Amino acid sequence: MQRFPQAFLDTIRERADIVALIQPYVQLRKAGRDFMGLCPFHNEKSPSFTVSPTKQFYHCFGCGAHGTAFDWLIDHDGYSFPEAVAQLAQSAGIAMPEREVPTPADLQAQARQTHLQSLVATADTIFQRQLRASPQAKEYLKLRGMTGHAAKAFGIGYASGDLIAHFPGVKLKDLVEVGLVVERTNGEIVDKFRRRVMFPIQNEAGTVIGFGGRTVGNEEPKYLNSPESTIFRKGRELYGLALAKQEIRRTRTAFVMEGYMDVVALHQHGEGRAVAALGTSITSDQLQRLFQLADHVVFAMDGDGAGQKAANRAALLVLEVIGDRKTASFVSLPAEHDPDSYVRANGLDAWTAYIGTHAEPLSARITKILTAGRDLNLPENRAAIAREASEMLATIRHAPTLQEALRTHVEAIINMGVARKAGHRSRDAKPTAEDIGTKAKPPAPDRSRAAFYENLARLSQLAPQHLEQIPTVLIDDFAALICSWFAVAAADLDARAAAVERITIPALQQVVRAAVVGTMQRTAELGAEQIDTEISAILAALQRDAEHAARVQKTTALFAAAV
Ligand code: CTP
Ligand code: MN
Repeated sequence: MQRFPQAFLDTIRERADIVALIQPYVQLRKAGRDFMGLCPFHNEKSPSFTVSPTKQFYHCFGCGAHGTAFDWLIDHDGYSFPEAVAQLAQSAGIAMPEREVPTPADLQAQARQTHLQSLVATADTIFQRQLRASPQAKEYLKLRGMTGHAAKAFGIGYASGDLIAHFPGVKLKDLVEVGLVVERTNGEIVDKFRRRVMFPIQNEAGTVIGFGGRTVGNEEPKYLNSPESTIFRKGRELYGLALAKQEIRRTRTAFVMEGYMDVVALHQHGEGRAVAALGTSITSDQLQRLFQLADHVVFAMDGDGAGQKAANRAALLVLEVIGDRKTASFVSLPAEHDPDSYVRANGLDAWTAYIGTHAEPLSARITKILTAGRDLNLPENRAAIAREASEMLATIRHAPTLQEALRTHVEAIINMGVARKAGHRSRDAKPTAEDIGTKAKPPAPDRSRAAFYENLARLSQLAPQHLEQIPTVLIDDFAALICSWFAVAAADLDARAAAVERITIPALQQVVRAAVVGTMQRTAELGAEQIDTEISAILAALQRDAEHAARVQKTTALFAAAV
């Protein structure tokens, strides 16, 4: 892929007119230095979508959609990155960087690529034909529950083992390069795939770039895969993505499984969002792609030890790529099952129900990794957990809120070890990783007195007259809220957005979001008086929330007592 010089991209970004780009799709009203309108990325009745011409980006306080002109063209208009670059360069009147006239060597490489691709395409056709001609292979697939329809959709084939004969005049070296034939140590050239059911692997555009071949007998290895080559990069593509993409995008949800058979089976049973890695562990490139298409990525791993390992490995990689508005969860199938056998034995409804009840959030998976097999009563163990946790959390690069929440969560778990040690529970009830990591709810984060007074001091400086009105249960949250609110009022769009995202209590977050949007709509810089009004409004909302919560609690208690 062509790489663009960074300076060139920066110039485009600077000169891009994001308002002009968005205007045709969203009715924008001026609000201070920014513009506002109804968010095109989610359904809403009052505007929370803002566009900043000075910052050259958009941000939605409702759904979190956020990006530059590049992102707009890619996420809203479906451009590829190079297309977006070309489009923006053109409208900004910037010449594309000199595309070097392809050298003879470039042209040769291109031609070679096309040639190799055509060999794979031909092999694919042959394999599919050989499947139709092989009663045994068809019988095998039938035994495994694969319908003809699914086999066709995935282009399943069969390699009888006489592929070489179908490529007269083709250089053996080329067939070797794409891994259709192999040279034995004695120099003999043979088909790589012999008597194997063939799973063609497509890139996202649907072009076949390689194969996975499964033995129909007991030969080892169970699967053979095409080798890495210029046309087949295993770490980039995902099995099934060409077919699953639409549905993943539409529902913003993807299911990652381990095996080719799993993907085919799930699609066959009506779950069209299943994909798998290509005979290797999942890579961060693959995860990044999935998180572009989806907001929720669910890993459905085999119920065996290998599946657990794969899930753990995936969870650690997810930390590196996940963003704050994305979630990952992990489902371990019952010990005897993989997704294929599960859906075949129990059907799609049972599958969906199982996923729904067994999806373990990323936080739980990470906690498990940290605490597995460690007795938390032992200070050394707690120290080790703290150390490993901080290393692990440092790998989170795009999800500051998640990072903070995980930190608090792990701290709470470590503190729980201390609390138990101090005799809050009988000494023999040792907390296990399981008990803490997933089931037990950690105690509310320790709101230390110091933080309390610090917040209070800041608060009283800012709005002393409001202090008494704050519901006691909400005082800390309110303090935090006020601090971020003032950061919000003072700063520009990205600071405001970040401040809103930092608020972890959904109700509070909503209130501040609304306040931010309100402020923007009122256009002007905030005077002291307006800030006052704003705080009163926030307070009123908080008070209502608190009263409401108290009422609900009381009513629930009454009902509980009555039955
Ligand atoms: N795999 C591989 N080489 C092997 C075994 C497995 O490349 N020797 C890869 C394949 O991509 C396979 C995936 O790992 O799809 C999962 O392996 P496994 O769970 O053993 O196979 P299944 O996909 O469940 O296949 P089947 O149900 O046919 O046994
Ligand atoms: Mn299987």
